[in-house]
Amino acid sequence: MKLRTTIITSFILSCLFFSDIGAQESMINVYGRNYQSLNGKWDAIVDLYDQGRNNKIFLNKKPEGKTDFYEYSFDGGLRVNVPSDWNSQLPELKYYEGTVWYARRFDVQKEADKRLFLYFGAVSYRCRIYLNGKEIGQHEGGFTPFQIEVTDLVKDTDNFLAVEVNNTRTVDAIPAMAFDWWNYGGITRDVFLVKTPKTFIQDYFIQLDKYKADKVDARIQLSEKAANTSIEIEIPELKVKQTLKTDNEGVASVSFNVKKLERWSPESPKLYKVIVSSSDDKVEEMIGFRNIWVKGEDVYLNDKPIFLKSISFHEEIPQRKGRAFSEADAVMLLSEAKALGCNMIRLAHYPQNEYTVRLAEKMGFLLWEEIPIWQGIDFKNEDTKFKAGNMIKEMVMRDKNRCALAFWGVANETQPSEPRNEFLKYLIQCCKDIDTTRLITAAFDLVRFNRDRQVFVMDDPFIKELDVVAVNKYMGWYHQWPVTPDKAIWDVAKGQPLIISEFGGEALYGKTGDADIVSSWSEDYQATLYRDNLEMFKHIPNLRGTSSWVLSDFRSPFRFHPTNQEDWNRKGLVSDQGYRKKAWYIMKEYYDNIK
Ligand code: GCU
Repeated sequence: MKLRTTIITSFILSCLFFSDIGAQESMINVYGRNYQSLNGKWDAIVDLYDQGRNNKIFLNKKPEGKTDFYEYSFDGGLRVNVPSDWNSQLPELKYYEGTVWYARRFDVQKEADKRLFLYFGAVSYRCRIYLNGKEIGQHEGGFTPFQIEVTDLVKDTDNFLAVEVNNTRTVDAIPAMAFDWWNYGGITRDVFLVKTPKTFIQDYFIQLDKYKADKVDARIQLSEKAANTSIEIEIPELKVKQTLKTDNEGVASVSFNVKKLERWSPESPKLYKVIVSSSDDKVEEMIGFRNIWVKGEDVYLNDKPIFLKSISFHEEIPQRKGRAFSEADAVMLLSEAKALGCNMIRLAHYPQNEYTVRLAEKMGFLLWEEIPIWQGIDFKNEDTKFKAGNMIKEMVMRDKNRCALAFWGVANETQPSEPRNEFLKYLIQCCKDIDTTRLITAAFDLVRFNRDRQVFVMDDPFIKELDVVAVNKYMGWYHQWPVTPDKAIWDVAKGQPLIISEFGGEALYGKTGDADIVSSWSEDYQATLYRDNLEMFKHIPNLRGTSSWVLSDFRSPFRFHPTNQEDWNRKGLVSDQGYRKKAWYIMKEYYDNIK
């Protein structure tokens, strides 16, 4: 293969042209539709110098005459699982950052009155999609779904689908150049071929009114601007059957009262079958109904103040050293959180897969979901702001019918600045343009001890834009105690609910002794740290929730210690092999004693 272009040029080109041309917003509730899975073994080519596109390998050409030759073939080479990251599938790809081409063939039963869409649950981090030799779409963002209509592009048999995936970190990306988790690359979630009627139910938003316990608000959007189309919403168990007509935009909205509604809660995660149908389409799923709002320094769930007993976890199965993607993975992670006594999960630091979100709702966890606005984002860059807005809209659009979703998080540990404030206000508006019912929050690491006043304080006026203020504070780890924990008084975000969204410290499972030495990495020191922080929490007057960092040890390329870390962040309450550390039992007792 002749190198027709310099490596730098092709890399710059690839960054300049990765946008969302061709990728459409994913239709709501894909799992409740008629789809053919394209998961399984795919062919792959590692393209370290980004030469595949210039050499049009997506054409998958085969030599015909005596003089033809091609220095690539998707057949008979590397095979990788989809979904899954590539880093955990091949030892030589553990640290790989660059381009990998995926490809597979598929047949399809085309039907004259049906439409076909290629759906990707997520591709990390940017990708271009090629079908039968033609580029049909792109997407940027490693944690949200997208789809591309292929109705007029597919053949009945032997369609060739190629996906060019690149996970190289860039300054203008979200997240950007350095973040404390593994930069997994690949087609990391489900790939489906979704079949719909010509005019289908594209989107719906069906949730309880923010404040009223018996009023359901519903908005349905058809795929076409078909006016006067009858839409039906049924909730059989509540004897609800609403018939409405679409307007010129193909939209139908209605609010209706319900009797004897059992509102969803962590203790009683009641879900109802909801059926949305039109003359040509019918989609159904389980939906829950609850109210959540803030009054003063309290968070109210279904008219009662609630204390959020939370835990954070990354989308990772440590024993597999890979990104979580399946229902079985969700069961493993959420079962451990349930055992810990949690009623909430902070899904750090990006939208996680739908299996996790839907199962969390079924099991009774409130959820905090966020996009990875993690520390050093290029807040001055308008393109980056646009991309972040895209990502947060894709997250809200996907999960807006999940009553478990209580918080949209817009940032993690950002530093005060005018560009940051404008950027985050834009993200908040992107959320509210779709959903005004949920609480907006963000996590800050700006709390400092004021020696004159002898209290912990924080100075970032931006918190007034939020419903709930969240603070990451690593007392006993990154910050040593300026006073004893029982004297650690906070005066932060008075008048607003405060959540400790991260606290904790590292311990290597099985390492004991040295209960007062930070660098021991011992379970005993981690236990001391937890006891001290739980003591401090008693002296935060507006504390309404805690989220320990983190459920289990997770992989991170900037955790260098050769024996204590080895590319692992050891703040887990559970080790990378699934063993509970001493601090797990301290946290369990704390949550069990909160009624
Ligand atoms: C930060 C950050 C986490 C990180 C943690 C740590 O608060 O939000 O993503 O993993 O600190 O340093 O362990």
